[in-house]
Amino acid sequence: MKEDIYILAIESSCDETAASVVKNGRTVLSNVISSQIALHTLYGGVVPEIASRKHIEKINQVIEEALTQAGMTLEEMTAVAVTYGPGLVGALLVGVAEAKAIAYAAKKPLIGVHHIEGHVSANFIEHPDLEPPFVCLIVSGGHTHLVIVKDYGEFEILGRTRDDAAGEAFDKVARAVGLGYPGGPKIDKAAKEGNPNAIDFPRGKIEGSPYDFSFSGLKSCVLNYINHANMTGEKINVADLAASFQHSVVDSLVSRTVAAAQEFGYRKVAIAGGVASNTALRSAMKEACEKAGLTLYYPSPIFCTDNAAMIGTAGYYEYKKGNLSGWDLNAVPNLKLGER
Ligand code: KG4
Ligand code: ZN
Repeated sequence: MKEDIYILAIESSCDETAASVVKNGRTVLSNVISSQIALHTLYGGVVPEIASRKHIEKINQVIEEALTQAGMTLEEMTAVAVTYGPGLVGALLVGVAEAKAIAYAAKKPLIGVHHIEGHVSANFIEHPDLEPPFVCLIVSGGHTHLVIVKDYGEFEILGRTRDDAAGEAFDKVARAVGLGYPGGPKIDKAAKEGNPNAIDFPRGKIEGSPYDFSFSGLKSCVLNYINHANMTGEKINVADLAASFQHSVVDSLVSRTVAAAQEFGYRKVAIAGGVASNTALRSAMKEACEKAGLTLYYPSPIFCTDNAAMIGTAGYYEYKKGNLSGWDLNAVPNLKLGER
């Protein structure tokens, strides 16, 4: 009989302290997330020093809770996986140091996981039928990538953002229009009451790079629109502005993703990262994929934003490939996709 593989996974790259136990790569036995959002809301964004300090305070408790909820002990784990990049260096270091200490003390193998590989792997949790290859759009607060997932942990990058990440654009526009932090969910909600065609915002394009993204021009247009309204004393319809901005972002994301799947001949498409929980993106992508005869996969919202279950899933496939880390594993804040 094949032995079950249990991964204890830790994630602390930004503002969530998270731990999870994942069985055989796809069964999540626990998924504990301690969010710092309320704390950072006071400052309108993530404050790195506060994030690191909070991770230190919470991490032991979160790991214990993950093991308790799974009904398992550290001794029963096969290996310990941890996000080692990209992310905030101080925040990453807390998770990496903790994982090393635990794995060393319990004599378990250590697996350093790429945060973005984690986001992509979130799709495997609820879709047992999904296997590479497929096209994946990764849209988070720090990243916007369109890739072919050639195999587990193997990516061919088709396009990326040339300036702001999609989530970053959501956060900046939300702040400018007074919706607060984190902007994505606030814009998503406000947009439901608005008209997506009320304001004609541009779709950022990069000449000669059909799969690259650009959101800074759109962001400037929104800021100009707000400034102009403020100067002339016009009242801004926040719902219409949110819906129109979101429509422009979603349109850019959906058109490139579907075009890539068609050009390169893939029938399966997945989306990943915090922005993949956006309701307008999910429904527009679903409609476009259906029209094009493609099968769309997306994780539940709780597995889109930062969590450790996705790190456990990615960690499992790295473990199977024999990609273990040494005790010299370090945080790599600007780790590129495809690097180890
Ligand atoms: O993946 P994630 O949790 O962290 C990073 O790795 O960056 O993504 C966070 C980003 C934030 O920019 C947040 O505003 C955005 O995801 N986000 C959303 C939604 N929920 C989270 N953006 C649009 N619509 C949402 N519903
Ligand atoms: Zn993330």
